[in-house]
Amino acid sequence: MDFVASHILSVTQFERVDIDSVFSVADRMEPYAHRRRVTRVLEGAILGNMFFEPSTRTRVSFGCAFNLLGGEVRETSEIKASAIAKGESFYDTARVLSGYSDIIVMRHELAGSVAEFAEASRVPVVNGGDGANEHPSQALLDLYTIRKELMGRSKGIDRLRIALVGDLRYGRAVHSLCKLLTLYEDIHFTLISPPELQLPENYVQEMQQRGHEVTISDQLESSIGHADILYLTRTQEERFPSQEEADRYRGLFRMNQTIYTEFCEPNTVIMHPLPRDSRGDAGELDNDLNENPNLAIFRQTDNGVLIRMALFALILDVVDKVDSHSREVSWNINRRF
Ligand code: CP
Repeated sequence: MDFVASHILSVTQFERVDIDSVFSVADRMEPYAHRRRVTRVLEGAILGNMFFEPSTRTRVSFGCAFNLLGGEVRETSEIKASAIAKGESFYDTARVLSGYSDIIVMRHELAGSVAEFAEASRVPVVNGGDGANEHPSQALLDLYTIRKELMGRSKGIDRLRIALVGDLRYGRAVHSLCKLLTLYEDIHFTLISPPELQLPENYVQEMQQRGHEVTISDQLESSIGHADILYLTRTQEERFPSQEEADRYRGLFRMNQTIYTEFCEPNTVIMHPLPRDSRGDAGELDNDLNENPNLAIFRQTDNGVLIRMALFALILDVVDKVDSHSREVSWNINRRF
């Protein structure tokens, strides 16, 4: 695909070669994301960071990524802080906001909303998550993390064995990641969820049609023994008809150090798109795994900045200008972790 001036709405826009391009640009962003150099390549550009649904890492890391390229960020968070709460349409909102920005990232609770917004936008729009539908930048950063984690073990994404656990019905990060993985060779997907929260059938059919192996299970311990990657998810309670219904699934697939030691292969990588629900009875990913070196959740969030910088650089066509607008930083940071 041609990234320049494109909307990024769905991972179905990508072929493997496009993913390789994003990853190669992301690698080149490391000196800037790690604050060894600063670049002003997007000086004067404005990102409209429009989050109409709660977010910590997607909103902040898109903002950081734009700042790290030298651009400025204007944010709207929550519908009630925007004129959408007064009945303004996506069309009008997009026409207005795209006059104030050079690029827009948008998240909204309705599937398809970001695509509708993008149709009326005069500048490129990146999908920061639309309902239970897609989360393309999360899938790219997840795949980038998988590639990096496996590289140290002399493995690639082809022939990956991945177990996806939890709310696979409403989890948009899982939906986008599964679609991306179908572009690779001989993936073994193990889909572990309660029957009511299984991955929608169209995703499973596509995996099978493309020749991948799919195992469906509602048992955690007996299904995770041969995974390279264990990808856990939160119950997406905001998408359930009622809190009572969502609460039925709390704590069903609890991963902790004891279960990991007993049932996983040594060095299985543990991933989660976050947020993890750390309230007492949720327990999809316990804190006692925090010191486990195979826990990659904070490497995922760090990688998110690289991927989002790469997307901005590609869409705004500055990849080859980043270094020429750069200098070394004048401060010294020493992060503890
Ligand atoms: N993974 C993710 O989308 O996190 P946020 O909801 O905090 O953006």
